[in-house]
Amino acid sequence: MQNLRGIIHIPGDKSITHRALIFGAIADAGRTIFLRNCLQSYDCLATRDALAALGVSFSTESANTLVIHAVGIHGLQQPSDIIDVGNSGTTIRLLTGLLAAQRFSSSITGDLSIQRRPMHRVIAPLRLMGAKITAAREDNFAPLNIEGGQTLHAINYSLSVASAQVKSAITLADIYTTGTSTVTTPYTCRDHTEILLDNFSDDIVIPGDISAAAFFIVAATITHQSDIFLPDIGINPTRNAVLEVLQKMGANISLVNVKVVNGELRADIRVRGVNKLEPFTIDAEIIPRLIDEIPILCLAAACADGVSIIRGAGELRYKESDRIKQIVAGLQQLGINAKELVDGLTVEGGIIQGGMVSSGGDHRIAMMFAIARLVAKQEIIIQDMECVDTSFPNFFTLLRESTHV
Ligand code: S3P
Repeated sequence: MQNLRGIIHIPGDKSITHRALIFGAIADAGRTIFLRNCLQSYDCLATRDALAALGVSFSTESANTLVIHAVGIHGLQQPSDIIDVGNSGTTIRLLTGLLAAQRFSSSITGDLSIQRRPMHRVIAPLRLMGAKITAAREDNFAPLNIEGGQTLHAINYSLSVASAQVKSAITLADIYTTGTSTVTTPYTCRDHTEILLDNFSDDIVIPGDISAAAFFIVAATITHQSDIFLPDIGINPTRNAVLEVLQKMGANISLVNVKVVNGELRADIRVRGVNKLEPFTIDAEIIPRLIDEIPILCLAAACADGVSIIRGAGELRYKESDRIKQIVAGLQQLGINAKELVDGLTVEGGIIQGGMVSSGGDHRIAMMFAIARLVAKQEIIIQDMECVDTSFPNFFTLLRESTHV
């Protein structure tokens, strides 16, 4: 069996990069913000390009250090064209909040996946704040038209889904009100926006992305002789539940050098392979703290002894693909007994054979099945692999460099 060894430098956190780009752009005009270990994946480039279309300029200090030349909250300019966010849900939802408060009108859209993802969840609270937004279809789907020149006011809003993107869209719009909005979510979800606002500085060091690291953490866990070291990974408590679940399954994960930089908790993570994993059961309360790690956790479940159960995860159907369908279909193709539930799935551990699977154009599904290759009995052919660049451009390079026979 193949195994993973060595020090692996995971790229910067996607959620924090988006937020640092946006808040850096509207920091006081004339300020220069350095974003170190900035993720340069398609999703984050979509946010950078959208801000550039709004008149913000950027320069590069070194490979992963981006410099933002801030324009102030009233310094954005009307874009000359419709803003295209590509595949990035975080970009469209956060920027809709920002654009709703501008004196100019704008339109925003994305690829076919984005045009199928629900936007009413951001439109509804922003309208309550006084925004004028229309959606191309069913009051829910992009392209969105945002009419400028509205005076927004603060709201108290209770979200029915635990969405950090919606919470952040309201926070961005709220900057332009005279009051203070409050947002409650049914369960705790990522708080990077709040942390960034409380700790904003001209020098931001972005931690490694735990959602990207999770692919290597599971890869090392399921390949017995592995021993890897991942420096400076974000372990913000609203994001780190993947570690809790894996540790309960019996994974050998240790954290060293735990520290806080720019308000974000981070640590170096060492992972060694194990011979046996227990199945897990998770439900609604923990889901937002590991929502993006469910595909790779399902691969860990496929390598465990018994049936793992995921409930309260209906939100998975509204991600870059319907992840419940994609995971179940792919695992079944590989000979694993997996079943769809309305709001989740079950996965019975077994022997991963080989076969042809589809990523559905979803980066996290593609990476899940790329890791499955390490333990599969035969070849796994994955359709539509390029989507990995959405969040993790050097994923295959790092995997190749760290894999040994
Ligand atoms: C994100 C929030 C989550 C997550 C997404 C990134 C963010 O989405 O799945 O990948 O950066 O705020 P929701 O807000 O839809 O839960």
